[in-house]
Amino acid sequence: METEMAKLETERLILRNWIDEDHAPFAALNADPDVMEFFPSTLTKDQSNSMVDRVRGLIDEKGYGFWACEEKLSGQFIGFVGLNNPEYELPFNPCLEIGWRLAKPYWGKGYASEAAKTALQYAFQTLDAAEVVSFTAVINERSSAVMKRLGFLNSNENFKHSALADGHPLQEHVLYKMQRSDFC
Ligand SMILES: CC(C)(COP(=O)(O)OP(=O)(O)OC[C@H]1O[C@@H](n2cnc3c(N)ncnc32)[C@H](O)[C@@H]1OP(=O)(O)O)[C@@H](O)C(=O)NCCC(=O)NCCS
Repeated sequence: METEMAKLETERLILRNWIDEDHAPFAALNADPDVMEFFPSTLTKDQSNSMVDRVRGLIDEKGYGFWACEEKLSGQFIGFVGLNNPEYELPFNPCLEIGWRLAKPYWGKGYASEAAKTALQYAFQTLDAAEVVSFTAVINERSSAVMKRLGFLNSNENFKHSALADGHPLQEHVLYKMQRSDFC
C-alpha cells in the first residue's frame, strides 16, 4: 500500500520523493570520488539508478526515507538527506538512522544540517521515534561533524561494518545517537 508522501520544507531546501529528473545529477554525484571518498567505491550509473528506484519505493511504502533534496533558490537537485531503517546486518538493528549525501558544490553551506533538523523533527514528532542513530566510517570526520552539530552524542560503541573486510580502512564505524528527549 502506498503511504502519502510528506513534502518537507526548510528555509532554503525542499525534501521530497524522487523524480526521474534526479537520476542524472544523482549519478554525477555518485561518480564523484570526493563525494564517495568514505565509501568503498564510486557508483556506476546503473548502481546509482537502482538506488534511486529502491529509495523511491521505500518512500512510497513508508512515507519517509532518504528524501531527495532540492535547493529552493535554484530548483536544483543537490543530493539526499533523510531517514532509513537499514536492512543489512548491524549490531544495533532494528534502528532508525539519519543519513546524508550532497553534491560537493553544496557542502559548506549548512544544507545537510538544515535538512537533517527537519528530518529529525519528522522522526520524533511524526513517527514518534524514541531514538535516531547515525553512523559513518571513523575517518569520515565531515559526516560526524554534522552529527555533533545536530546534538547527537557519540555512543562510544564503535563497530565493524559487516560489508567491509577486516582491516579495510573504512571498516571501523562510529555510532552516534539522539533520544527524543534530547531533541529541541
Ligand atoms: C557529510 C556532508 C553531508 C556534510 O556536509 P556539510 O556541508 O559539511 O555539512 P553542514 O550542512 O552541517 O554544513 C556545515 C558547514 O557549512 C558552513 N555554513 C555556511 N553557511 C552556513 C549556514 N548558513 N548555516 C550553517 N552552516 C553554514 C559551516 O560553517 C560548516 O562549514 P565547515 O565545514 O567549514 O566547518 C557532505 O560532506 C557530504 O555529502 N559528504 C559525502 C557523503 C558522505 O560522506 N555522507 C555521509 C556518509 S555516512
